[in-house]
Amino acid sequence: MNKKKLVFSGVQPTGNLHLGNYLGALKNFVSLQKEMDCIYCVVDLHAITTFQNPNQLRNNVLETVASFLATGLNPSKSIIFNQSAVSGHTELAWILNCISRIGWLSRMTQFKDKAGSDKEKASVGLYIYPNLMAADILLYKATHVPVGADQKQHLELSRDIAQKFNNDFNCKDFFPLPEPLIPKNVSRVMSLRDGNKKMSKSEESDYSRINLKDSADEIYKKIKKAKSDSDQIPDNLKDLEKKPEALNLINIYSEISKSTLEKVLNEMSGKEYAFLKRKLAELLINEIEPVGKEIKKLLVDKSHLESILKKGKEKANIIAEENLKNIREKVGLI
Ligand code: TRP
Repeated sequence: MNKKKLVFSGVQPTGNLHLGNYLGALKNFVSLQKEMDCIYCVVDLHAITTFQNPNQLRNNVLETVASFLATGLNPSKSIIFNQSAVSGHTELAWILNCISRIGWLSRMTQFKDKAGSDKEKASVGLYIYPNLMAADILLYKATHVPVGADQKQHLELSRDIAQKFNNDFNCKDFFPLPEPLIPKNVSRVMSLRDGNKKMSKSEESDYSRINLKDSADEIYKKIKKAKSDSDQIPDNLKDLEKKPEALNLINIYSEISKSTLEKVLNEMSGKEYAFLKRKLAELLINEIEPVGKEIKKLLVDKSHLESILKKGKEKANIIAEENLKNIREKVGLI
């Protein structure tokens, strides 16, 4: 049995990564890279479950790689590649389509959200998206999966699929049951305009999010205009929880300043939100502006980014093929 810890995570190439992706995923990826073997995959096949403009998709994959590098992922330590380059993902996804149950998929809340009111018109790919995600993880027999809280249900499905495969083919412990690594506070960085919605690249107003490529001036303006509260900053979490926009700003501040919510409230209670916003903007500019500049710099040399993907693909493919050989054998495929 393979007891070695192995991290796998996937990021959709949406382009325009924002503070939510940075605090909820990328920063965590970088710290995991120091402790364990890690595989970070740009999941282009997941992206096309909803229509993508081909040129934009190509650019977005490269921009996601640039964002990985700019935040500190090191391609000689971690494997960085794009999903479609390793065909084992789709092969295993097919096998897992036959393990996973329709009833399991029909409970996935993200499908319900994404498909909207007319489910008949959603792509079949969108429906079986979680099986592909299970394939991503199990193809490498990954043990730990850093994801946002919104992916918890998909990860539980991956565990169910792994367990059913191990049972059906009578190979206990063949697939390790992957464990989610969900960051505590930061798993939900909310929109700067509506504290009940996640920060998202699809929200119409650009003022709802801090993009990694925003200039210092844009960061400053967005934080200044962010919704907060007309009362002063309270001294306890309970009062704050009733004010989602204010809580969100304090949450972001505590993450960026590496402090706890309690400590931030101790420091700030009784002050106006304008005071918090000035300090927050300063910290964000210090941390995000250099990342954005680096992303832009990296994007100038596309062939460099492509060569990183190619090397990553070669490394990933070796592990994938080795595991697939055993998987095919278990299933009885010649
Ligand atoms: N579904 C994930 C998301 O939207 C992305 C993803 C695809 C993923 N495959 C994965 C995450 C495997 C972790 C592991 O965020």
